[in-house]
Amino acid sequence: MNTPRKIIIDTDPGQDDAVAILLALASPEELDVLGVTVVAGNVPLPLTQKNACIVCELAGLPDTKVYSGCDAPLTRKLVTAEHVHGKTGLDGPVMPDPTMALQDQHAVDFIIETLRAEPAGSVSLCPLGPLTNIATAFNRAPDIVERVQEIVLMGGAYFQVGNITPAAEFNIYVDPEAAKIVFASGVPIVVMPLDVTHKALTNRARVEAFRNLGNEAGRMVAEWTDFFERFDKEKYGSEGAPLHDPCVIAYLLKPELFSGRHVNVEIETGSELTLGMTVADWWGVTDRTPNAMFMGGLDADGFFALLNERIARL
Ligand code: RIB
Ligand code: CA
Repeated sequence: MNTPRKIIIDTDPGQDDAVAILLALASPEELDVLGVTVVAGNVPLPLTQKNACIVCELAGLPDTKVYSGCDAPLTRKLVTAEHVHGKTGLDGPVMPDPTMALQDQHAVDFIIETLRAEPAGSVSLCPLGPLTNIATAFNRAPDIVERVQEIVLMGGAYFQVGNITPAAEFNIYVDPEAAKIVFASGVPIVVMPLDVTHKALTNRARVEAFRNLGNEAGRMVAEWTDFFERFDKEKYGSEGAPLHDPCVIAYLLKPELFSGRHVNVEIETGSELTLGMTVADWWGVTDRTPNAMFMGGLDADGFFALLNERIARL
């Protein structure tokens, strides 16, 4: 059996982040979650850090190390998404306050220390929210950049255009300067943009399958999805909600579920009109160096089968 892949999940829970964290914690044979680092995004940091603890306890793993990180983007004012995720960021079911404590160390210091301590190329970063923690770590400790095995992130959009502005996806839009730093870092990057996450759509049968798992985790996933999907159904007329962030973890577990193209992706940070846009050179019309595997294809049935099989374990 292979040794589990070492990862740091950087997150702004968020119902879809929560499902991604559950999926990772339910897969200890494949994934060694060294830590969960939290960032402000869907809701402010006090809530995202609390939500991360709620999810780790729901997984029955209160010893998971959760680190609080940056409470605002590098240079801009924080934009949040309560209109999608509700006031708490985990609206849907009423959940008990967590009893587990956050780690004392700041998330950025944890990322730096871990990448310096672990063998070079042995730790992957899995950002599920704005990239502020990652970019801050890279700025503060440039030596860690070449030590990162891979970055597998949820963010951006090209053919699916924006979800927070006509041009930009939320995670990139919140901190475009941070995204620019990460995409220019030279670290191998796999991107799960809206182009692929909009294919990870729930529907009644898929939500009922979660509910019918018979465990608390399955019930919570169903109730989060019930809440989370109302926004997308209204906006896109879709049958259900896109489970954006679990695509990152599903890729680590079963990369064959995904397909994409290695292209150049640049981040717009100047224009107010297209701020945060991920400009993917899909047809190679420039001489810009490809820097990201930009995903677009998904075996949705295989994705939900994996999710069910793993959430059932908790
Ligand atoms: O645009 C979708 C992304 O923004 C997801 O990561 C969601 O959790 C929010 O952070
Ligand atoms: Ca997120």
